[in-house]
Amino acid sequence: MPLQHQPEHFSAQRFLVPLLVALMSTSSDACGKPPWFPNMQLNGAKDSYGTGEKVEYSCRPGYTRRPTVNISSVCTAEGQWSPVSKDACYKKSCPRQEDPLNGQVNYLNGSSEFGTQIQYTCHPGFVLIGDVILYCLLAGSDVQWSADPPICTKILCQPPPNIKNGEFFPSHKDVFEYHEVATYQCNRVPPGQDELSLVGERQIYCSENREWSANPPECKVVRCPYPVILNGRQTSGFSRKYSYRARVMFECNQGLFLHGSETVMCEGNNTWQPPIPICRSEPPPPSPLPPPPPAIPSSTSVLSSIKGEAFGFGDSKGWIISLIMMAVLELQ
Ligand SMILES: *[C@@H]1O[C@H](CO)[C@@H](O)[C@H](O)[C@H]1NC(C)=O
Ligand SMILES: *[C@@H]1O[C@H](CO)[C@@H](O)[C@H](O)[C@H]1NC(C)=O
Ligand SMILES: *[C@@H]1O[C@H](CO)[C@@H](O)[C@H](O)[C@H]1NC(C)=O
Repeated sequence: MPLQHQPEHFSAQRFLVPLLVALMSTSSDACGKPPWFPNMQLNGAKDSYGTGEKVEYSCRPGYTRRPTVNISSVCTAEGQWSPVSKDACYKKSCPRQEDPLNGQVNYLNGSSEFGTQIQYTCHPGFVLIGDVILYCLLAGSDVQWSADPPICTKILCQPPPNIKNGEFFPSHKDVFEYHEVATYQCNRVPPGQDELSLVGERQIYCSENREWSANPPECKVVRCPYPVILNGRQTSGFSRKYSYRARVMFECNQGLFLHGSETVMCEGNNTWQPPIPICRSEPPPPSPLPPPPPAIPSSTSVLSSIKGEAFGFGDSKGWIISLIMMAVLELQ
């Protein structure tokens, strides 16, 4: 009979039900459910037990029994379960693993109990084949490692790639050992033809994961355009042709400011890097780096720069310059 349709009996029921429950439990059902344990389970379970009733625990899967410890409990006259040792069941362990040949096993959790992990590493020059990490897992009621232990095999590389217009040494080998080097060289060209430049790494070596340390270089003719700067001039690195790694320097005409790098280099993609600078009448924006501390000019350098400026500027600045000169001479 649903309670909500009987409001007149509601308060009576609220009072009676707990009383009945209390009476029943003190008479025949002395104890409630026995305690729960993560490592042990109850063999058969009821909701309530009478005084003197005994329950037995057994180990949960993955745990094993300590033979000397009692894992049963009795419902006492006080309505309590007699104490049970929590340590009666302990975790099973997976078999201990030895270090592999040319490698090492690391017990990440300090033991090989179920639920733990071990990690394998190989010595330098060896590569790991298999699982890096093994887990000690439950298998039925027993425990075992999640996979067979990996093995460490010697790192060997296939010969590096062949390249156009060049070759590598040693050339006769089928395999290269760990850290063994292959050296590239560009073909010679007949006299009168443009020379080939080796762009990239001349030497690469057999490295981790059986891979070469870098991509092979390219052998090609590198030719950068003749360096031209407007309102300025080249000051070094003059040549008829500009090939790979050629360096040139620039300066701007008197009174102009150089924007960019005063030195540029001919790169493998036939461009000047950084790009050729530009000469402008306004100074470049302040660099993001903090400016160097102001140098105290020696009197001779001030004098020489004043002479230079005096030629470039009109009368208006002439008297300022003479003032500075006087100040400098005064200081001496
Ligand atoms: C284990 O303990 C229970 C209750 O605490 C007791 O009844 C039982 O005889 C004990 N068994 C052994 C083998 O000690
Ligand atoms: C074992 O160690 C690993 C790595 O430190 C950690 O991630 C994992 O939680 C640990 N497992 C246990 C069961 O302690
Ligand atoms: C040429 O190579 C440089 C680096 O060496 C790179 O910064 C530049 O973007 C390349 N230019 C072109 C057009 O590929």
